Amino acid sequence: MKTFAKNFLWGGALAANQCEGAYLEDGKGLEICDLLETGKDRFIKLDPALELHEGHVYPSHEAIDFYHHYKEDIAMFGEMGMKCLRTSIAWSRIFPNGDDAEPNEKGLTYYEDMFRELHRWGIEPVITISHFETPLALVKKYGGWDNRKLVGFFERYCKVLFERYKDQVKYWMTFNEINNTLKLPYLAAGMVVADDDNAPQRQYQAAHNMFVANALAVKSCHEMIPGAKIGCMLSLSTAYPNTCRPEDVMETYQLRQRSLFFSDVMLRGRYPSYIDRKWEELGVQVQMEPGDSELIAQNTNDYLAFSYYMTSTHIAGMKIRSNTGGHVGADNPYLEKSKWGWPIDPVGLRFVCNELYDRYQKPMFIAENGLGTADTIDPDGRIRDTARMEYLKKHIEALQQAVADGCDIFGYTWWGPIDIVSAGTGEMEKRYGFIYVDKDNQGNGTLQRRKKDSFEYYKKVIASNGQDL
Ligand code: BG6
Repeated sequence: MKTFAKNFLWGGALAANQCEGAYLEDGKGLEICDLLETGKDRFIKLDPALELHEGHVYPSHEAIDFYHHYKEDIAMFGEMGMKCLRTSIAWSRIFPNGDDAEPNEKGLTYYEDMFRELHRWGIEPVITISHFETPLALVKKYGGWDNRKLVGFFERYCKVLFERYKDQVKYWMTFNEINNTLKLPYLAAGMVVADDDNAPQRQYQAAHNMFVANALAVKSCHEMIPGAKIGCMLSLSTAYPNTCRPEDVMETYQLRQRSLFFSDVMLRGRYPSYIDRKWEELGVQVQMEPGDSELIAQNTNDYLAFSYYMTSTHIAGMKIRSNTGGHVGADNPYLEKSKWGWPIDPVGLRFVCNELYDRYQKPMFIAENGLGTADTIDPDGRIRDTARMEYLKKHIEALQQAVADGCDIFGYTWWGPIDIVSAGTGEMEKRYGFIYVDKDNQGNGTLQRRKKDSFEYYKKVIASNGQDL
């Protein structure tokens, strides 16, 4: 039976906006997440004028201050034996307004130092170029990704990164969860989209522009960094039909196509046939420029990275609602839910890996998987996070099954190996980490780090290459 390759990339995943803090330090400009407050309604509360307000709590501004604590944190990742760290570069540290003529040297130096530190510990950086981090100025000035101008700014940004980090970074991915352009357009495509008839037009136009930008990034990456791999990244938690009623099955399949549309374009290099009817029904007309199709066809991604948190259950006709974990569906009586209401389904991970490998036959990287839950510090100072360890164990077992099934999977990064700000709610107390950070939802705390029981557990998982669970 096949098992994890010797050089399997076990690690953890972070995003700059959820961990770094230092939101204006060393020349950084504002980015979209800097405007989001704490709470489930953080997207609804967003000021349409895109301004900050005194006295409001914006969790990204300090986050866990990884910007100043990275040496300490990376030392702990190293102690855990992590082989890789997936994190992102905050675009507005490099180009504070997105359209600046010159990059910000201090921002470039920061990441260079951080990557050096990772290598010192034998940890491979896996870098997301844009993880919900569109510079705010690009949103204000150009409206976000449905404006074609962003393609050029992104291309320039990518080239600066590839030139500067070509000796340090061999694994890249372009846009985090690009398919969330249809579900969470502010995060994924830097667009404030009113829930009106025009939304699909803007969203699919943004998607096309991002496909062009993705293809240009793939092209530059291959030209500038021989041997580097550059993936696309999607949110691919899946949905099951609620019953065997054919309508439920058909509609659930179409729901899946809404996501796979994105990887179909970026991995197969062409638009899938099913999208024409969809666009016709929605009245969408995507503007393409001469040469776009060829560019997309010639520059497909090397691998598919995806997040998997849960499965949902779909009933034909139900309103499509989503959160950062996937779709919000009907209750599945066979699955337990996390404290935040996300169904826990390890078998679903094996299912999705098989589905995706059958479809693309490209290497795959599990870029996010994890359990966000509350933690308590016991009187003896320990954090006995058994639910998190159980979640991890079951998902690694499922992953082992997927590898045995023949899926080509080269890495797994646990989401938030250290507690960070939640993307969906801005909470600190929705914790994913093996390392606890003393900070609460109001922004109070010493930022002190403390190992949870799961720290030693993941260390053992990695040391045994996924065998000792
Ligand atoms: C993914 C995002 O959607 O889900 C992450 O890529 C996010 O940025 C993760 O943090 C978990 O979601 P949440 O809302 O629990 O932070």
